[in-house]
Amino acid sequence: QNEIYNAGLKGILPTYPVDFATLEKRAHEALGPSLTNYVAGGCGDEHTQDQNATAFHHWGMVPRMMVDCSTRDLSIELFGHRYPTPLFMAPIGLNGEASQDRHGDMAAARASAMTGVPFCASTLANDPLEDVKAACGDTPAWFQLYTPRNRELATSLIRRAEDAGYKALVVTLDTWVTGWRPRDLNASNFPQLRGKVLQNYFTDPVFRSLLAQPPEEDPAAAIFTWAATFGQVLTWEDMAWFKSVTKLPIVLKGICHPDDARRAVDSGADAVYCSNHGGRQANGGIATIDLLEEVVKASGDTPVLFDSGVRSGTDAIKALAMGARAVGVGRPYTYGLALGGAEGAAWVLRSILAEADLLMAVNGYPTLADVRAAGVRRTDR
Ligand code: FNR
Repeated sequence: QNEIYNAGLKGILPTYPVDFATLEKRAHEALGPSLTNYVAGGCGDEHTQDQNATAFHHWGMVPRMMVDCSTRDLSIELFGHRYPTPLFMAPIGLNGEASQDRHGDMAAARASAMTGVPFCASTLANDPLEDVKAACGDTPAWFQLYTPRNRELATSLIRRAEDAGYKALVVTLDTWVTGWRPRDLNASNFPQLRGKVLQNYFTDPVFRSLLAQPPEEDPAAAIFTWAATFGQVLTWEDMAWFKSVTKLPIVLKGICHPDDARRAVDSGADAVYCSNHGGRQANGGIATIDLLEEVVKASGDTPVLFDSGVRSGTDAIKALAMGARAVGVGRPYTYGLALGGAEGAAWVLRSILAEADLLMAVNGYPTLADVRAAGVRRTDR
């Protein structure tokens, strides 16, 4: 922030936007209509998606004075590792398409290496998970699994994630079917049809064994096979299978109800991930920030990860004040990828961190424990 102000004194403007509205506008121009519809679009009339972001406004923090905040500690402990910041990059399928070179997952991984913010790599990536992990450098990475119906294929993806050195397995629970997304349904050239997003499958020996022809020779048939294997309906009974197949910490993504949080903990989940998929899966819901406190309470000592609607450092601090252990940045870093690849994504993450750090300084919260102790208050009651 000091760098930006000092440069400003010399008349040098920031390379990339420092606020979400400008970032979003410029990214949409860079992405073009089809990809904008995919990234920005949500379910139904997008009411839940909009609420995810606006609901942050009815939570506020009260500053404390006469506290030495000359240094701040934003580090967190998660899965036995100390991370320098409380942010992570949420899994975004088709990140690859967002950056100009169509290797956005590699760029996101490089942004992770540059910032120390862990990248949760999606199953639906343009580059194989091994390459993506390698590009994360010294920053630990997490792998997000869309569980295939074929258990052998699921096991193969999990083994590859383990062998590549991922530090957590994030199992997404809310997407065994795709929600009602009018912007995608209306689009004539929905980018997913290009099939580029399936590199984790196309490089997988079990997936390849399901095909009559290698994907390089008959990509269309490979895409249909992928579609046929996508979307295992999961129930709580499946947790025993996940626990039997991997020793990686298991994170259950999509938990919004406190009873589900309790069930996740009882089933042996290592973290509860409170998210409504950015409002892309179900409309008519409730902003996740309004559900977070209940989920945290129900999760006891089990860490809670949070995403959906985080657009700024202030949003991130509010979620931490409500008890999230780590906060996921979604669309904003993908917009950073669209504007400047790894550098653009790193810029977005650093801007969010700088704002969060400054807020802690001004509000008299030197550590995240102080943020949590300060909590939040409703502004509309
Ligand atoms: C997602 N999300 C997602 N989640 C997941 O588990 N696997 C995935 O492949 C994807 N893909 C994906 C694509 C796009 C374009 C978006 C916007 C989102 C959901 C993502 O992890 C996260 O929950 C949301 O992005 C949070 O909402 P906001 O803050 O980005 O609005």
